[in-house]
Amino acid sequence: MKITNLKLKNFRNHTNLDITFSDYKNIIIGNNGIGKTNIVEAIYYLALTKSFRTSNDQILIKDEEDFAVIEANIVDKISNNFKIVLSKDGKNIKIDNNSIKSISDYISKLNVILFTTEDMKLIKDNPSIHRKLINMELSQFNNEYLKLLSIYNKVLKQRNTYLKSMYLNGNIPTDYLDVLTDKLIDLGLKIYNIRKDYVNQINLYISSIFKKVVKKDNLQIKYISNYENKNKEDLIKSYRKMQQKDINYGKTHLGIHVDDYLFEIHGKLAKDFLSEGELKNAIISFKLSEIKYCINTKKRTPILILDDLFSELDDKKINTLIGNFKKSFQIIITTTDIDKVNKKLLNNCRVIKITNRKVEVKDYE
Ligand SMILES: Nc1ncnc2c1ncn2[C@@H]1O[C@H](COP(=O)(O)OP(=O)(O)OP(=O)(O)O)[C@@H](O)[C@H]1O
Ligand SMILES: [Mg+2]
Repeated sequence: MKITNLKLKNFRNHTNLDITFSDYKNIIIGNNGIGKTNIVEAIYYLALTKSFRTSNDQILIKDEEDFAVIEANIVDKISNNFKIVLSKDGKNIKIDNNSIKSISDYISKLNVILFTTEDMKLIKDNPSIHRKLINMELSQFNNEYLKLLSIYNKVLKQRNTYLKSMYLNGNIPTDYLDVLTDKLIDLGLKIYNIRKDYVNQINLYISSIFKKVVKKDNLQIKYISNYENKNKEDLIKSYRKMQQKDINYGKTHLGIHVDDYLFEIHGKLAKDFLSEGELKNAIISFKLSEIKYCINTKKRTPILILDDLFSELDDKKINTLIGNFKKSFQIIITTTDIDKVNKKLLNNCRVIKITNRKVEVKDYE
C-alpha cells in the first residue's frame, strides 16, 4: 500500500500543501517548526481518524480558519481517494467521495506504521497508556477488534453501575450481574486472543531485528492479562471469588481492561535495563515487527513513517535497520538535516524539502 499524493488545507500550520511521494523511499527535510510532524500527523489522522499528539481535533485546524482538509490518494492494487474534512461540527470522512458512516469499518483500510518520540510511552508510561497505544495499533490491523472493544467497554460500564447499585441497595439478586459477567467474559476472551496472537507474532521478529543494531538478544514483549491460560469456566469462578470486592469498590477488578504489555530483555524490564538510545531502538524494532504482523494478517504492506529519526539514532544504525527493506515498501522519513542522512539511504530516494514558501523535490538515483 502506498500514498501517492497528499494535499493539506488549513491543517495545523499548512495553508495549502501538495506533496507527491515516490513509491519507495521519501525523506522530508525542513527546519524545526516548519511542519514536518504535522504532515506525519495528517497521514496518521487519515489512517486512524485520531491524532497521536492530541485528542482535541479543533487544534488541528489552522489558527483563524473554520475547517481543515486532509486528502490523499492511496494505492493498494487500485487507487482510492481518502479525504477527511474537520470543522467545528466534527469530522466528515470520505472514500472516493462516498461518506463513511462507521469509523470502525473505515479504520483498518489504510495501514500506517509510525514511529515518533511519543512511542517511547509504550515502554515508559503506565499500563493504561500502554493499552491505549496498543489499542490504536491493533485497531488499524483488525476492524473487528475496535468493535469488540467498544462493546466490551459498554458492558463494563453497565457492570460497574450495577455493582454500585448492589452496594447501595444491598441484597439485590445476582442474576443480572451474572448475565453481565458472562457477556464480559465472552467479549474479553475474544479480545484477549487477538492481543495474544498479536504479541506472539511480534515476538517472532522483534528480537532478531533488535539484535542487528544493539547486539543484545532476547528482547520480547510480555503480555500480562488475568485471562492468561483461563477458559470460560475458570473465569466465571475467578469473577465469583472477586465479586464481594467488586461490589465493595463498585468496579470490576478482573478483565482485559487491566491488561499490560511490558518490554523485557532477558526477563528484565527494558526500561530499567536499557539505555535511552537502546530503548528507542527497541521501539523501532517493535514497529518494524509490526510490518510483518500487518503482512501476515492483512496480506498487505503498510506505509512506514519514521518521524525525526536522525535525532533519535545515528545514520549507520538507521541504515542497518531499514537498509534491507525491499522496494515493495514505502518509507517516509522526516529530518531537519540532509547531512545526517547516510549516502546509501539516499539511493533511489525522493527528497522533499519544505520551506515557508514552497516544496522542492529532488529524486536521487
Ligand atoms: N492549529 C495550528 N495553526 C497554526 N499553526 C500551528 C497549529 N498547530 C501547530 N502549529 C504550528 O506548527 C508548528 C510545528 O510543526 P511541527 O511540529 O510539524 O514542526 P516540525 O517540522 O516537526 O519541527 P521539529 O523539527 O522541531 O520537530 C509550530 O510552529 C506550531 O506553532
Ligand atoms: Mg517534528
